[in-house]
Amino acid sequence: GLGSDMYRQQILDHYKNPRNYGELEDPTFTHVGENPMCGDEIRMDVRLDDDEETIERVAFSGDGCAISQASASMLSSELQGKTVDELLEMDRDDVVELLGVDISPMRIKCAVLAEKVAQDGAEIYFGELEKTQTTTED
Ligand code: FES
Ligand code: FES
Repeated sequence: GLGSDMYRQQILDHYKNPRNYGELEDPTFTHVGENPMCGDEIRMDVRLDDDEETIERVAFSGDGCAISQASASMLSSELQGKTVDELLEMDRDDVVELLGVDISPMRIKCAVLAEKVAQDGAEIYFGELEKTQTTTED
């Protein structure tokens, strides 16, 4: 229907004109992760405020399909001003809602890559996660 056409346009727009693409000069933390299905990697740079509670700026870089790039672009905009807790509470349904289209099981790993990288980056930074490698395997 018309509604999902609009969302598809939005995904294409974020893919062609990604928001917050690049690297931050002074990130609080940086993390890279891979979609094991294709080997595409996304890097997320996050800068927190002085209290380390609120997300001030987010940038992403790396390659991937339209879904993964649009998801990273939308997420990077969405996260600015949110708290770290809000980031950590996000799940795949929130990402799918952000994208606004049905995501097939084949492509869900593309959709959640940026979210997972940002979450793992935060957990590693706060010492809650020991692994240093992120993939969307699980
Ligand atoms: Fe093929 Fe994302 S476009 S898995
Ligand atoms: Fe690589 Fe979608 S095909 S991230």
